[in-house]
Amino acid sequence: MRFVDLIEKKADGGVLSREEIKAMITGYVNGDIPDYQMSAMMMAIRLNGMSAEETADLTLAMMHSGDVVDLSDLPGVKLDKHSTGGVGDTTTLVIVPLVAACGGTVAKMSGRGLGHTGGTLDKLESIPGTCIEQPMEVFKDIVRKNGAAVIGQSANLVPADKMMYALRDVTGTVRSIPLIASSIMSKKLASGADVIVLDIKTGTGAFMRTEKEAFELAHTMVDIGTHLDRKVCAIVTDMDQPLGMAVGNALEVREAVQLLSGMIPETDPLYEVCMVLAVRMLVLGGLAADSEEAENMLKRAIDNGSGLEKLRNMIALQGGDASYIDPVRIDELCSVRKLVELPARRSGYISGMNAEGIGNAAQKLGAGRATKDDIIDPAVGLIMRVRLGDKIEEGDSICTLYVNDDSNLPEIMEQLYDAVRITEEPADTRPMVLAVI
Ligand code: URA
Ligand code: CA
Repeated sequence: MRFVDLIEKKADGGVLSREEIKAMITGYVNGDIPDYQMSAMMMAIRLNGMSAEETADLTLAMMHSGDVVDLSDLPGVKLDKHSTGGVGDTTTLVIVPLVAACGGTVAKMSGRGLGHTGGTLDKLESIPGTCIEQPMEVFKDIVRKNGAAVIGQSANLVPADKMMYALRDVTGTVRSIPLIASSIMSKKLASGADVIVLDIKTGTGAFMRTEKEAFELAHTMVDIGTHLDRKVCAIVTDMDQPLGMAVGNALEVREAVQLLSGMIPETDPLYEVCMVLAVRMLVLGGLAADSEEAENMLKRAIDNGSGLEKLRNMIALQGGDASYIDPVRIDELCSVRKLVELPARRSGYISGMNAEGIGNAAQKLGAGRATKDDIIDPAVGLIMRVRLGDKIEEGDSICTLYVNDDSNLPEIMEQLYDAVRITEEPADTRPMVLAVI
């Protein structure tokens, strides 16, 4: 079989067999298929799509291109969650300990932040001493003791995805639903999860700009799970504003600690999204009979402090100073040279936010990376003081900036003004959770 024949087949709208897809991934990873042929194939996929079966076969082939983590010697159903890159999204740091406090097993591998989105690993590293690189046996031991641990993805997890993503990035083939779905799901499956709850974000801060695209991606990923015998559920959520109030590493850990300490109201968007995701994890994992029972279990774990205790233990077992996992002590990690308020230039209603713009502003303050090698300042970032729909008076603070390096502060403040629209009349807002698929 010549690979060019498969490219032609896909370009003509044909369907690739499991063997053909397997040969493609094996050939690409071992160097038999050159980048230019793989580029042409991925463009044919982007233009013509893939069937549910092809997408599942692609996911499976990618998953087996490198290490597959075996968690079968850990007790219970292995639960995982994934969010498609948001701003102010600290759900992992809330959900992992909370679900563990309800009896779940969460052995999670996370990624770093890039561009306007934050990464769980960077947030964890803002707690002094915390080590996100643990040998597999140590990682499993922590999960055995505590029910929860979060580490970085091992270097050889889905090498096919690393190669394909680098190519997609420069060939206009990133925005293909089957390629995105297989990219994400292959990594989740290779990290050993039985139950996967996905948070697909849509809006100004998200990868999927429109609801239609987000729904399509959600359905595609759930279909992959069905084909591969995993329990997968997808929630489509709004990312038209930062999810939490905090955008920054230690600031987001502080918000997670506050939520786990019962200091954040149930009506808060971060609380709501954490709850919806964690409820699905408990129900799909068989730890709760239904949503109502799951919600009660989770609320109890907030009220009695057992969720916070799980986070504290997780940090301690991963080498970190767990005394910071406390709503008062954690302030020390958020200490910066100066706090700067962003005063509203007019009165009115907050009618629009560009979450990506806000994420980029936090990144420029030092909270994130523009390139992979940038160094993060864990303490800096910003705390939003308003939500979509809020009324604001001229001079009131839109957000508080946590600043150590003020060299480009005026530019950052202008960027924030551009990202928050204030109008005379309130605009319609949509619910936080748009669908459960
Ligand atoms: N995130 C991924 O991991 N892969 C994609 O293709 C897109 C987003
Ligand atoms: Ca995230």
